[in-house]
Amino acid sequence: MIFAAIADVHGNCAALDAVLADIEKLGIEDVVNLGDCFSGPLEAGITGDILLKNRIPSVRGNHDRALIDRPFEAMGDWEKPAHAQLSAAHLDWLQTLPFDMVFKDVAYCCHGSPKDDLEYWLERLSPEGVLHLRPLDEIEVLAEGIEQTLMLCGHTHIARTVQLSDGRLIVNPGSVGCPGWTDNEPFYHQVEAGHPFASYAVLEETGRGWQVYFRQVRYDNLAMAELARVNGMPRLANVIVGGWLSLRST
Ligand SMILES: [Fe+2]
Repeated sequence: MIFAAIADVHGNCAALDAVLADIEKLGIEDVVNLGDCFSGPLEAGITGDILLKNRIPSVRGNHDRALIDRPFEAMGDWEKPAHAQLSAAHLDWLQTLPFDMVFKDVAYCCHGSPKDDLEYWLERLSPEGVLHLRPLDEIEVLAEGIEQTLMLCGHTHIARTVQLSDGRLIVNPGSVGCPGWTDNEPFYHQVEAGHPFASYAVLEETGRGWQVYFRQVRYDNLAMAELARVNGMPRLANVIVGGWLSLRST
């Protein structure tokens, strides 16, 4: 069996189009989406049309939940511009998404951790505001009770594979549409991919277990960056252009 895992599209329809074209080029038919589909200042409505048209099985991310669990006035800066673009069909679809699921009987899927869509399953936040690889015992506690040998998560936008001591794998495919972000809770921290490409993962079942292939796809990122800039998010524009939140001199 072979399939693709995507996550954290964040309304970047150009990146999503490029990833779906890459998946098709590889001859892969099955795709699973790990959430955070729309939020941000980009093209939430077009992204919704693509996800619904392709009937991509999806779990609900924290940003997806924030589009449907509170009134518009209480939404944050990432939700308001996205919500304004979403149709009733898009919002109805979000309501149907599960917190977690098992994809094709082989892969456990969630957005953050199996307990909380805001938790970083594979990373720990240092006092300096850096996300480091989390201690294995903490990662494994959260995997207890999950029967699948392959587990998938998103949320941090950091492409990473962790092998548990029993050989099972947890894979974060990275972010399709948002290669960096910042957060002020519980204190300031940030993530930067260091490249602007659309990230996803291919998972292939082999005689030796699951083989993971990370893919990083070029797309027309400048148009999306301009949209972020025009809509008042210059650091997001920077990271979409080059993979860094601040512009670097060349
Ligand atoms: Fe996200």
